[in-house]
Order: sequence, then structure tokens, then C-alpha cells
Amino acid sequence: MKYDFNKTIERRGSNSVKWDATVAFFGEKDVLPMWVADMDFQTPPFVINAIQQQLNRAVLGYTFAGEEWYSSIISWLKKRHEWDVEAKSLTFVSGVVRGQAHALQCFTEASDKVMVMTPVYHPFFQVTKHLHRQVVFSPLHIENNQIDINFNRFENDIKGCKMLILCNPHNPGGRVWTKEELQTIAHICHKNNVLVISDEIHADLTLPGYRHLPFTTVSAEAAEIGITLMAPSKTFNMPGVSSSFAIVENEQLNRQFQTFMQAGEFDQGNMFAYASTVAAYRQGEEWLEQLLQYVQNNIDFTEHFLQTELPAISMIRPQASFLIFLNCKKLNLEQPELEKLFLNKARLALNSGTTFGQEGEGFMRLNVGCPLGTLQEALYRMKTALR
Ligand SMILES: Cc1ncc(COP(=O)(O)O)c(C=O)c1O
Repeated sequence: MKYDFNKTIERRGSNSVKWDATVAFFGEKDVLPMWVADMDFQTPPFVINAIQQQLNRAVLGYTFAGEEWYSSIISWLKKRHEWDVEAKSLTFVSGVVRGQAHALQCFTEASDKVMVMTPVYHPFFQVTKHLHRQVVFSPLHIENNQIDINFNRFENDIKGCKMLILCNPHNPGGRVWTKEELQTIAHICHKNNVLVISDEIHADLTLPGYRHLPFTTVSAEAAEIGITLMAPSKTFNMPGVSSSFAIVENEQLNRQFQTFMQAGEFDQGNMFAYASTVAAYRQGEEWLEQLLQYVQNNIDFTEHFLQTELPAISMIRPQASFLIFLNCKKLNLEQPELEKLFLNKARLALNSGTTFGQEGEGFMRLNVGCPLGTLQEALYRMKTALR
């Protein structure tokens, strides 16, 4: 491999949320952090160089998104996802969750109903609630050891909602939704006048054997109601740069969204965000291919280890990204006991399943976006704790 994903990098002492905020979140300092969804790999050198080049200019002045910001995103989406996007549909947003908040404020009003499908990345419902919208929780279930949608339930729950926040691909379950599933979501939402925010931050991390489908590409109905949020942040391990974007193809919705974003100057990025995005999308394919292989290998390793060494814990095998939802139900522990087992006995910081909603009971989320050595250490700690 051209890039070295085995290299360990000292991240403690850098105000890293993953490494340094365990004190604030878990009350523990010396635990191995396998929680927050960034990776412990070096950010690709071409991204670092692009930021370095900005510094070399010696003036950190106001900078706009140049033509190359648009064209690099457009050609990446075409190449990786066979998606034709026009420059006018793109809007800079400083984060995907912030993009959700902007879209919620732009398209809904206080006390409007907004649906999320739990278990799901917790800011989906937290931000919605903090913005005083009513959260409708529509539970997902597990079918053939994968996260699945019960569409009867979905159709009932969506009634009266103004918006759905869809996680595509899904976190924490790692599901890559099929075309039929996305078309059904689009059809039901369209019929019920529901707009769909499709959070596609994990799209580029879809693993070999699966294909990500941007929500709005699955049908004319989806294109009419979809607001897509994407970023190079997860893909290229650069979430600290705060660089994301929205794609809104429906012209009327796009006008409304861009007017809202411009009014508050929420669409203003910064020189590092623009330059790093261009570098990532222009130069990132080879790095990403190697990363996906490495992550796949970590997932295989985890699956094999659980089967052979820790049969009381199983996993939902992710179809995208580096997060594994561990099924610990066989341990028969209440969630607080399960959390204590991982934290105090194994000395590991994992996200508790219930963080993502009640349906996460009995689960813990493990981040395997790290050198294999770190993952091995975490798995041995789990084994020893269980013994
Ligand atoms: C589905 C999903 N959306 C959004 C985010 C966070 O994105 P941002 O930092 O751009 O707000 C995450 C991070 O884990 C995520 O998993």
C-alpha cells in the first residue's frame, strides 16, 4: 500500500474530542477511545499540503469558493456516485449537522413534526428537539442481522410530519439502503408532503460489494423532495476543517434554502475548507480505495475475533463506514451495567447503543477507523473484561 494506515499518531493533548474529551464525557482519562466517528489515520498528505499552501500565501484573507470548489465536487459525485449535479444546486455548509439545523429552520416551523428512524446518529433528534420541533421516533428493526425498515410502521409514523431526516448510509447500523427502499421512502414522503433531508456523510465510505445511491437519484419524487448533505470530512478524516455542502436539485427548494443561507451568511466557508475539499476530491481516489480495503480488513478481523474469542458479542456487519454496532444482548446486562463493563473493566470508551435511541438497548458502537494494532488492543481488552 502506498499509504500507511498502520502508523499510530499521538492525538492526546490536541483537544481531540475522541482522545481528550473522554474526561468530560466518561469521567475517565486513561481509556482507549473507540467512540467519536473520526479515524486515527493520518489525514491524506495532499489535504495537508493544500492547507499548507494556503498558509504559505502569508495572508489569511477573506476567500470565496472558487470555480474549482464546485468543479471538484461535481466531478467527484459523477465519478464515485454516477450523479450529475449542477453547480447552482451546491451550497457550502460548515457541517452536516449544522446543515440539518439550517434546513430545519428554513423549511419547518416550531412545533412541526420531524421524523427520525432510530437507532440513529443522536444529533438528528437532539438538534431537532433543541430547535423546538416535535421529534417523531420511528423505530427500525433488525432483520437477517441487518437494520431494516418496516414500511407499514414508517407510513403510519410519517403522517403529519413536515420532514424526515434520513441517514443514508445508516449510522450506527452501517446499512446501505437499496434502490427499492429509497424509492419507497421517497414515494411515501412525496405522497404525504414530507421533505427529506438525506444525510450522506458516510456515502464515500461504502464498502466493497455495496453501492451508495444518493437519495435524490432514485426517482423523480425523490428529486422533488430531497435535500442532500455531504462532506469530505469522514471520507478523508478531516472533520476538524468544518467543510460540507448541501445539494438541492428542486429549484424552488434550492432558492428558498440559498436565500436562507445567504441571509445569515451561513454559506460562507473559509480558505482551508475550500482548499482542502478541492484537494481531497481531486486527488483522493487512490487513498480512499486503500482506506476502504484497510477498513474492510478491520471489520473482517473484528468479526472473526468475536466469533472465535467472544461469542457472547456479535455484530451487525457494516455495509458502509468504520462503525460497528455490537450486539451484546446475550450478556443479559442492563444498559448501565453494559456501559460499566466496557468503561471500567475493559477501559474502553465506546458509544452506548441507547445514545442513538431506545432501540439501541443491548448494543455498543465500536469505531474501527484505527490502526489494526489499536483495534486488536481494544478487542483483547473486551475479552479480558468478559473473562
Ligand atoms: C450520520 C452523521 N451525520 C453527521 C455527522 C457529523 O457531521 P458534522 O461534523 O459535519 O456535523 C456524523 C458524525 O459522526 C454522522 O455519523
